Amino acid sequence: MSVTSTRPESAARADTVVVLAAGQGTRMRSSRPKVLHELCGRSMLAWVLDQALALEPQRVLVVVGHGSDQVRANLEAEGFDDRVRCVLQEEQLGTGHAVQVCLPELGEDPGTVVLLYGDMPLLRPESLARLLEAKGAASVGAEQPAASILTCEPRDPRAFGRILRDERGADDVTAIVEEKDCTEDQRAIREVNLGVYAFPGPALVAALPKLEAKNAQGEYYITDVVALMRGAGHRVVACCLDDEQEGIGVNTIRHLSEAREAIQDRILEDHMVGGVAIEDPATTYVDFGVEIGSGTRVLPCTVIRRGVKIGEGCEVGPFSHLRVGTEMHDGAEVGNFVEVKKSVIGKGTKAKHLTYMGDAKIGERANIGAGTVFANYDGKHKHTSTVASGAFVGSGTILVGPSQVGAGAKVGAGAVLKRNTVIPDGETWVGVPAAPIRRGADARAEE
Ligand code: UD1
Ligand code: MG
Repeated sequence: MSVTSTRPESAARADTVVVLAAGQGTRMRSSRPKVLHELCGRSMLAWVLDQALALEPQRVLVVVGHGSDQVRANLEAEGFDDRVRCVLQEEQLGTGHAVQVCLPELGEDPGTVVLLYGDMPLLRPESLARLLEAKGAASVGAEQPAASILTCEPRDPRAFGRILRDERGADDVTAIVEEKDCTEDQRAIREVNLGVYAFPGPALVAALPKLEAKNAQGEYYITDVVALMRGAGHRVVACCLDDEQEGIGVNTIRHLSEAREAIQDRILEDHMVGGVAIEDPATTYVDFGVEIGSGTRVLPCTVIRRGVKIGEGCEVGPFSHLRVGTEMHDGAEVGNFVEVKKSVIGKGTKAKHLTYMGDAKIGERANIGAGTVFANYDGKHKHTSTVASGAFVGSGTILVGPSQVGAGAKVGAGAVLKRNTVIPDGETWVGVPAAPIRRGADARAEE
């Protein structure tokens, strides 16, 4: 199948993107497929697919193998399933083999093919654009279209493949040598292969069947297509990135934590650009897919999980934990040691100290006192409790769900609301179990 016919040839465009995600990730020492390890609330593969889709290719192929059912399920959960096609690599015989199994899908002319690895989550779309531009520039005036590869010169080469450059040509690469296959001199080379390539489709398709597994690992290496393409008269040029952070590839759990930190920086940077005051980025954890309004302050040691929505002018932290399903409306505040899950906190409402708020719906300008617990779980089911606008919940209150506190109602410190308690608007309830406060003659008679 040819895909180039439907679109004009463009230098900075990928027609087909192939993402390799079939490997086991032995060096992670984990049963989870490597590409499903999470970075800021999202799989490593999802971050890579963002890069792939940013190129607006005609199609994206994802090579799956180890844990393929889990990987497919993740693609569906992340909403990628209708935008990518999976190709199964039953046995993982190397990166070259992984591309070989795509041959039936690629056909004779898959157009410009960008190849990405599922364990390189930090590449920026601009770098992929540069890669494609380098390919285009090297093709100008040449008889055959050129290929390009992304490289960098990191302080730590991370056992990446080393780039052998042609001594005559400026950017021309003669071969990529895996560290395990390097001579001592080659190991000293600082320029490494990031595993990101732009290939002319027909040349790739022609080279793939010629790969051999004659190397230290007995695998089919995609990197060997460099020499094969040169042999067929194509230039292969290196496009060297300055920012070595983009080259963080994840082969071990240690690398995973480095990549997480780098992605976290980017997420926090975006929020700060949007007007969110993050006092101490080093101790602030905000997942992918969190909305925070401008003018909101996020104080140190705070964890905000995916899907949380925070309005404008709010305050979160220090030491707050906002989990899935949390919504804070404008001007709401949560403080030290407050955990919130699947709850709505209305405008201007405050819960400043030591509170667990699970499955709670809280109106506007309510006050949730220190040490309040929404006891939402009865051992089998979760129950929602509501606190209406203007209510005041005293310190140390336990609301066994489902319970309701009416608008403007007050709950005395240390009260326990048994399940199904309904406090009418404006009333004051106290005690264990909570009951309306007695005033006037009744109370005096008892005294
Ligand atoms: C690879 C490159 C190396 C480069 C480095 C950059 C090769 C031979 N080596 O090494 O030059 O510096 O990446 O990150 O390509 N995969 C499959 N099927 C397989 C094997 C691997 O889908 O049979 C996938 C893995 O899931 C992973 C990617 O390909 O996402 C790369 O494989 P990995 O084993 O991590 O290669 P590296 O040793 O990192
Ligand atoms: Mg790798």
